[in-house]
Amino acid sequence: KYLQEDDITQECQALISTLPKDQGWVLSYLYQYQGFWHPIRQLQGVLSCQRHFQARDTDIILITSPKCGTTWLKALAYAVINRKTNPPRGDNHPLLSFNPHKSVPFLELKVYVDHQVPDLTELPSPRLFSTHLPVESLPLSIKETGCKVVYLARDPKDAFISLWHFANKLRPQNSCKLQLEEAFDKFCKGVSLYGPFWDHVLSYWKCSLEKSNNVFFLKYEELKVQPKLCLKKLAEFWERPFSLEEENNGVVDEILSLCSFDNLSNLEVNKVGKLSSGEQNNAFFRKGEVGNWANYFTQEMTEKI
Ligand code: A3P
Repeated sequence: KYLQEDDITQECQALISTLPKDQGWVLSYLYQYQGFWHPIRQLQGVLSCQRHFQARDTDIILITSPKCGTTWLKALAYAVINRKTNPPRGDNHPLLSFNPHKSVPFLELKVYVDHQVPDLTELPSPRLFSTHLPVESLPLSIKETGCKVVYLARDPKDAFISLWHFANKLRPQNSCKLQLEEAFDKFCKGVSLYGPFWDHVLSYWKCSLEKSNNVFFLKYEELKVQPKLCLKKLAEFWERPFSLEEENNGVVDEILSLCSFDNLSNLEVNKVGKLSSGEQNNAFFRKGEVGNWANYFTQEMTEKI
């Protein structure tokens, strides 16, 4: 389903005929729209999302470049925001039976292409959404309302290696593997899903300096090293700080352990389940480490990136 290019509106077809085009990492072409690269189905979602999404002041939006830790951030946000109704130590916690991507839908894919959320206005506040959209393509209402944006960044070397593995998992079994050198060349030129990676990060970094009350800039590496501190800061940013009692009762640690790589990746749902769009849930869990790039990069690649 990820690869299907049917059901594309005439508006989108007309637009793509005017856009720069390049070979993507999976099978479909990528098109450059507003400076960033998208496969056609995704582009349709971007247009629809830009036109229709109405943010609320109370919305929480999680933003990443692909492979920067979206799944982890989604799990953490969902567990923090819903901790009163779904205590993290409960046996029936939704994250034990649903992949985090189901709990926090992507605006431009699950909401506006797959129509997984029939009526956004019926969702109780705070609504939790995610997106990979660059600042330049965000729906205006996200920029104009007071909604709380968290941007999770990652060392581009690790993000690149993760994306290369992911793309190879999504390629049909009968097609050949995308070689590391070819993928690296594309990544450095900016031709990658929602790339150029550098422009994506830099715009959000600038936004976080200009609008620090609304945009929280976090790094995957920080979250790995100081998870407790980061989670407490996130909860404060979302105006749901942990009380002293919660801290003393171990709620912060319980959320971290519920959302840890080891726990999530070993759940049955994440070992064998699939997203409605066809991707295997296990494709979102690989190593979950900082510095895995060092096993793949030559000195020349390191200098170039
Ligand atoms: P690696 O391929 O380096 O292992 P995204 O969620 O944005 O698609 O990013 C996927 C990356 O985050 C993968 O990185 C994946 O293993 C890692 N990841 C997934 N869940 C995680 C978790 N709970 N904690 C830490 N890393 C996680």
